[in-house]
Amino acid sequence: MKLVKLLANLGYGSRKEVQRLIRSGAVTDDSGRVLGESELPPHERIRFHGEPLDPPFPLTLMLNKPDGYTCSADDPGAVIYDLLPERFAHRNPGLNPVGRLDKDTTGLLLMTDDGKLLHKIIHPKSGCLKIYHAVLDRPLSGNEAEIFGSGELLLNGEIKPLLPAGFEALGDKEALVRLHEGRYHQVRRMFAAAGNHVTALRRIAIGGLTLPADLAEGEWRMLTRADLALVFASRM
Ligand code: URA
Repeated sequence: MKLVKLLANLGYGSRKEVQRLIRSGAVTDDSGRVLGESELPPHERIRFHGEPLDPPFPLTLMLNKPDGYTCSADDPGAVIYDLLPERFAHRNPGLNPVGRLDKDTTGLLLMTDDGKLLHKIIHPKSGCLKIYHAVLDRPLSGNEAEIFGSGELLLNGEIKPLLPAGFEALGDKEALVRLHEGRYHQVRRMFAAAGNHVTALRRIAIGGLTLPADLAEGEWRMLTRADLALVFASRM
């Protein structure tokens, strides 16, 4: 791969813009030597305005999604890409959310440019566990564990019952829900089917990977190999 293509694929600019940047001396190696278009040292030795380059493909990160951000690139309102470096939205292959969270759902969201990994996590057959913390409008009735765990709950407008889901009451109006699938608005619709209403929803874990306590809302960090192993650590 050529230097121009590499930088353009990482979102540093269009090919023309990147070409101009290289000619202006913005791209150097780690000793500060200006690189020409035909050079391509190892990725970790390349600097852009003195800074190491973003990681190459495959890039996977975790984001602590705040309320009010849409998991889309082209919504007129606030979108998750607003929380990342601007160039991340221009990577090729593109960086996509691994399954979507509703605009008003907060918490752990993975994003990756690795299509195979994305499908491996979200494919129904993967049975990847997702844990949600829900705050309810009304007190729990006491039969949610039975309804959600039955394997017979049919959501409005669907013909296939939900897989058995785990339920744990945490208080009068608070609970954890453990899912092994990801249907549209699933947790909110499950509580609606049980006669309640979710007022706040937060995803706290995917597989065995939990939201780190030091990752504040709106913050993100790269996923490590160990994190990724945890994602697949807890299947059906
Ligand atoms: N279930 C929901 O209802 N919303 C989400 O964002 C995720 C799971």
